[in-house]
Amino acid sequence: MAHETLERPDGAAADWTIPQDWARYSAAEHAMWDTLFERQAAMLPGRVAPEFLAGLDMLRLSKPGIPDFGELSERLMAATGWQVVAVPGLVPDEVFFDHLANRRFVAGRFIRTPEQVDYLKEPDIFHDVFGHVPLLANPVFADYMQAYGVGGQRAAGLGAIEKLARLYWYTVEFGLIRTGGDLRIYGAGIVSSFGESVFALDDPSPNRLGFDLKRLMRTQYRIDDYQQTYFVIDSFEDLLRQTQEIDFGPLYAELEGQGTIEIEAILPDDTVITRGTQAYARSKLVG
Ligand code: PHE
Ligand code: FE
Repeated sequence: MAHETLERPDGAAADWTIPQDWARYSAAEHAMWDTLFERQAAMLPGRVAPEFLAGLDMLRLSKPGIPDFGELSERLMAATGWQVVAVPGLVPDEVFFDHLANRRFVAGRFIRTPEQVDYLKEPDIFHDVFGHVPLLANPVFADYMQAYGVGGQRAAGLGAIEKLARLYWYTVEFGLIRTGGDLRIYGAGIVSSFGESVFALDDPSPNRLGFDLKRLMRTQYRIDDYQQTYFVIDSFEDLLRQTQEIDFGPLYAELEGQGTIEIEAILPDDTVITRGTQAYARSKLVG
């Protein structure tokens, strides 16, 4: 995601991109990618949206290990017109939105260390590429991501980035989707996490609520642990329709007068799929 008040590091271009330097990865770093990839690829069938599995082949390139962004971008470009570019870390909001609006996905190039296998603070290449790229090979989701970038540029001018960022969080990063009679995961933050891939679907702790754009734009979220509430979309077509066809300008203005919603709250108008026990979140409270 993006952040304000950052300084562009020496060596980064005006658009904050840097070379991936694929040749500089060590054997241990490639092995880390392969380990993470195999672990997730083995557990995702039956849990993840079929559209994600369909896009996973995108990451099986001519050489094993960490994907080379050049080769990956060629393939993605042929499928949906997207590219993957390397950046040093978090980038300013306007830089992030400009890349998305031009169908470029920004990714970190570093990979987690063995001590960080199950938890890390900043997204690494495994999260960014394994988590996000497969759905960029899906034409509908690819359009949604671009529309989000354009929407971000508008939101910046309207002082509404925080509200729009909640949409990104609860869809692109932590979204669930209905597939047949089942719930499936599709958010990159879930699919790239071994623990949350199970928790988000199977644990009785979190709430699972029907997607509601205005409600979700008011809902707080946590960045330090598994989510306490997930929102469920009916389909990617429906998500695109409900966001692209609506002018967010009046919506932002309307929401301005309303407060934010607590992370674990369930409101009378919510479509409740699972009323969570919140036992997991409570077990983490010290005191
Ligand atoms: N419709 C939104 C707007 O008017 C743009 C947008 C589309 C935002 C899709 C997010 C996702 O600003
Ligand atoms: Fe992400």
